[in-house]
Amino acid sequence: MSELTATSISPVGPYFSPLVQGYWRLDDWQMTPQQRLSFLKAHIDLGITTVDHADIYGDYRCESLFGQALKLDPSVRQKIQVVSKCDIKLVSEAAPTRKINHYDTSYRHIIQSVDNSLSRLGVERLDVLLLHRPDALMDADEVAEAFTTLRHHGKVKHLGVSNFSPSQFDLLQSRLDESLVTNQVEINPLRFDVIHDGTLDQLQRLRIKPMAWSCLAGGELFNGDSAQATRVRETLQVIADELGATIDQVIYAWVMRLPSAPLPIIGSGNIERVKSAINARSLTLSREQWYRIWVASKGHNVP
Ligand SMILES: NC(=O)c1ccc[n+]([C@@H]2O[C@H](COP(=O)([O-])OP(=O)(O)OC[C@H]3O[C@@H](n4cnc5c(N)ncnc54)[C@H](OP(=O)(O)O)[C@@H]3O)[C@@H](O)[C@H]2O)c1
Repeated sequence: MSELTATSISPVGPYFSPLVQGYWRLDDWQMTPQQRLSFLKAHIDLGITTVDHADIYGDYRCESLFGQALKLDPSVRQKIQVVSKCDIKLVSEAAPTRKINHYDTSYRHIIQSVDNSLSRLGVERLDVLLLHRPDALMDADEVAEAFTTLRHHGKVKHLGVSNFSPSQFDLLQSRLDESLVTNQVEINPLRFDVIHDGTLDQLQRLRIKPMAWSCLAGGELFNGDSAQATRVRETLQVIADELGATIDQVIYAWVMRLPSAPLPIIGSGNIERVKSAINARSLTLSREQWYRIWVASKGHNVP
C-alpha cells in the first residue's frame, strides 16, 4: 500500500507523486543495471512514481543508465511519470566541436534533444519536458512551435520550465496554447531567492506547484563549513530535537511548508534517505520554527 497519494501539479495536470526522485547523480551511485532497477522499484513501492532527468545528467549518460534498467522490466514504465529537460549544451566528448557551455532553445535543438532523450530512456513519451535554463536568445514562438510538433507526435505530453523568472515564464506562456505545468527551481535553507523574487508568488497565484531541486543544498547543509551553513545546521539540529526528527526531515518540512506546495526532488540514491524524506511529510513546522531557519540563513532578524 502506497504511503503517498498522487497530486495534480497544475490545474491541467499531470499527476505526480508529492516527492520526486532525481537522477542527476545516478552515474555516481555505481549501481549495476539490476541494482538501478531495484532502487527504482523500491521508491515506486514507497509511492515515489515521478522521476526527474535531464539530457545532460552524468555528461549525457544518466538517461541511458536509467533506460538500461527499465529495459530489464518494461512493465515499470506504466507506473512512472518521466520528466526530462533540454536546452543546456555542455562541452563534452559527446559533442566534440562545442567550445563553450551554452543554451539552445531553437526548434531544431529541442526536437533533436527530445528524440535523443526518448531513445536513451527507452520510452515513447516524456510526461513533462522542461526547458532547463532561461536562454537569452529564446524566441518564444519557436519554442511553442517545437512543443506543438512534439505534442502532435505524442513525444511530450506537457511543457514546463526550470530556473525561469516570472517574466520569462509569462513570455513563454503568452505564445503557448497549453498551460506550462511547473517551474523547477532551487529551494533550500541556504538559497531561496525564489521565495522573495516573485517566482513562488506567481506559481501560487496560478496554482502551479514548483518542483524544488537541491533541497539539501547538494549535501552542503551537512558538511559545508561556511558561517551560513554552520549557523543553519545548528538551528536545524535544535529544531530537529524539538520535533523528534532528523535534520534532513526538518529541511524537507521547511520546503514543503511553503504555500505554493513545492514537490521536493530527492537527490540521494540511498533508499533509507528516500524513506526519511517521505517521513518528513508528517512534520509541520510552526511559523516561528520556519522563520528561525530563515533568520539563521540570513544572519539577521526579519525587518
Ligand atoms: N533544474 C535544475 O537546474 C536542477 C539542478 C540541480 C538538481 N536538479 C534535480 O534535483 C535533484 C536533487 O538535487 P541534488 O542531488 O542536488 O539534491 P540534494 O538532496 O540537495 O543533494 C543530494 C546530495 O546530498 C547528499 N546527502 C543527502 N543526505 C545526506 C546526509 N544526511 N549527509 C550527507 N550528505 C547527504 C547525497 O548523498 P547520498 O547520495 O550519499 O545520499 C547527495 O550527494 C537532482 O537529482 C536533479 O534531478 C535540478
